[in-house]
Amino acid sequence: MMQEEAKAPKPMPQLDHRYEGIGKVTGSIKYAAEFTSPFNKADLLYAYVVQSTIPSGTIASIDVTAANKAPGVVSILTPFNAPKLAGGPPQPPARRNLSLLQDTEVHYNGQPIALVVARSLNQAVAAARMLKVKYTAKPAKVTFTNHLGEARWPKNPGKEPPGNHRGDVNDGFARAAAVVDNTYITPIQNHNPMEPHSTIAWWEGEKLNVYDATQYITGDKMSIAKTFNIPLDYVHVMNPVVGGGFGCKGSMWSHVPLCILASRVTGKPVKLMLAREQMYGPVGARPSTVNKIKLGASADGKLLAIQHDVVMNASAMEDFTEHAESPTKILYDSPALSVSARMVEVNLGVSTFMRAPGEAPGTAVLEIAMDELAEKLKMDPLQLRLVNYAEKDPTEDKPWTDKHLKEAYMQAAQRFGWSKRNPTPGQMTEGNELIGYGMATATYPANRSAAQAVVRMLPGGKAFVGSGSQDLGTGTYTIMAQAAAQGLGIDPTLVEVKLGDSTLPKAPVSGGSQSAASVLPAIQDAAQQVVLKLADLAVNDTQSPLHGLRTLDLVAKGGNLVNKNNAAQVDNISSLLARNGNHPVEAQGSAEPGQGASAMSAHSWGAVFAEVAVDKSTYMVKVRRVVATYDVGTLLNEKTGLNQLMGGIVWSVGFALEEETHIDPVYGRTVNENLAEYHVPVNADIGTLDVTVVGIPDMKVAPTGARGIGEIGNTGAAAAIANAIYNATGKRVREYPITPDKIMLA
Ligand code: MOS
Repeated sequence: MMQEEAKAPKPMPQLDHRYEGIGKVTGSIKYAAEFTSPFNKADLLYAYVVQSTIPSGTIASIDVTAANKAPGVVSILTPFNAPKLAGGPPQPPARRNLSLLQDTEVHYNGQPIALVVARSLNQAVAAARMLKVKYTAKPAKVTFTNHLGEARWPKNPGKEPPGNHRGDVNDGFARAAAVVDNTYITPIQNHNPMEPHSTIAWWEGEKLNVYDATQYITGDKMSIAKTFNIPLDYVHVMNPVVGGGFGCKGSMWSHVPLCILASRVTGKPVKLMLAREQMYGPVGARPSTVNKIKLGASADGKLLAIQHDVVMNASAMEDFTEHAESPTKILYDSPALSVSARMVEVNLGVSTFMRAPGEAPGTAVLEIAMDELAEKLKMDPLQLRLVNYAEKDPTEDKPWTDKHLKEAYMQAAQRFGWSKRNPTPGQMTEGNELIGYGMATATYPANRSAAQAVVRMLPGGKAFVGSGSQDLGTGTYTIMAQAAAQGLGIDPTLVEVKLGDSTLPKAPVSGGSQSAASVLPAIQDAAQQVVLKLADLAVNDTQSPLHGLRTLDLVAKGGNLVNKNNAAQVDNISSLLARNGNHPVEAQGSAEPGQGASAMSAHSWGAVFAEVAVDKSTYMVKVRRVVATYDVGTLLNEKTGLNQLMGGIVWSVGFALEEETHIDPVYGRTVNENLAEYHVPVNADIGTLDVTVVGIPDMKVAPTGARGIGEIGNTGAAAAIANAIYNATGKRVREYPITPDKIMLA
């Protein structure tokens, strides 16, 4: 493992296009459901998931007589005939309580209860409609806000976590010159990646091959091996591109083992694709959060106490905590703090990670409360943030790895023209529109995990880099090429990249914004070893101009090895390899967070400013401009990096104004389980996005200086929009999404 040095990194050679971009637009690179080989395509069967139509109870019987006679039907799996799985429930890291036809319990409306396998997808769907399911219904609880009094701590750890309190909040509130105390609500949200979940599975004897739309091939492999009780090495998971993940593809859900089971039962390759409506329930959702937030400050704006108590919905099947309180623990310096996150069990599908879990809803609510506090204090909202700037992690009492949020505030405020804001609501108008300015802080943890990679210098000047990572559309391919090119001293267009294959060296889940910070240092390590091997070859090659030199004096540059003490001494790497049998030179690299990592607190930061125009008659909101500056360390690639940040802001426009999962209060089924009624922003909803970065490397997180960027864009911006709506209208809406009816009635 390489020694990580703390000096600023050299800028990486840049690919000016997305590595896999041409493959995507021409269709030459395939998503999981698109593969037609190496299995026998003529044998391919299609599986369709049958879902429960009640929210709670047991399945009394499933009559498959008619469906079995339907055209093309090969097999129908139900809890009454499905093979028993020996592996038991899957264990971490992809631990989920799955619905694998092993019992007749129904925990939510939409739960997988049977699988129809047919020669074509249409035949499978048609036959699925012919199943006659009889239930013994039990009383269901679906609206958690009717049961807030039943809120409990998560079962694991089963008690209040440590670090939730400091100081005396009651004393702080008593001494405060201004207090705000309100309840803020965020809705259930469902992930809607362009590519729905899909799996193709086929067995070769005891060995299993799977194409699967997943953010975590290694976790998928472990969960599958565990579920089917087969050796890890028997499972091969592939996934060259992912059409968006956002957390719902971060763990293995029921449809994956069901598809594999269907392949085992039929002895054929089986494809299972979830229809859009099947993604509302069986593959996770962001839970709704009810946030009681109380802030107290002295007359000069200094926070004296912060209280943030969250209650959310949890599934009867499994706990998941949306830590909306977590940004509250770190964003501002306050001597007293008290937070909690508790849940109410209801008959809904399992909650899970969704882009910026915790921080997205957490900043969305806290940053409205801060705006309200600023108004009470008659203080500029930006000034209030500066007065309470946290110079170290106030909860963990640790230094930051790095923090340049002040620079971000200043840069974005200036680009936005924040000084032109009128603090009195409703004063800026244009025609029939009220104009408002709002701001908020963005933050997301800078995560990093152990990762491995392989780098190979090939004869002829090209190179190969591989790691068992994933590219969700984020730019992993692109920055892997850049990192390998930098390490080998060649142009990034000469690097072939492979990821999304579980036979490659292990990499972590592409979640928690950690792939860049985790995988690139492993590539740097591997490339450094390749260069040493090449140097060794050269100094021992009597025909090399570098013969007899010390390996450590040689550096790779422009496709050559060069003596760093005498630039005239050069050997071309391709020639060197040609003289030595034309074999590739390869090394495996690995990297993990440094030993000092746990002594520091690692987060990214951002300042977000929004301008909205609100129609005076209809209260329709247009987000005209979002100006944001992020402190995320080094930006590794401008196109893919800024694109990630912008994508997060686009999501925040949806969070602020549109996204909401509606649950039928009686039947517990999602009512708007389609993209016509579950609103996400379209291009016409997005005004100008001005996104910049501070650009100061964070050498304490990774030797690339880069912290993750995949999620921070979806923090802060929703509140900036909410605060802009208040500045425009004088109406404070404390429940997302901020739809015209809520503004009207506020
Ligand atoms: Mo992300 S919610 O960590 O996939």
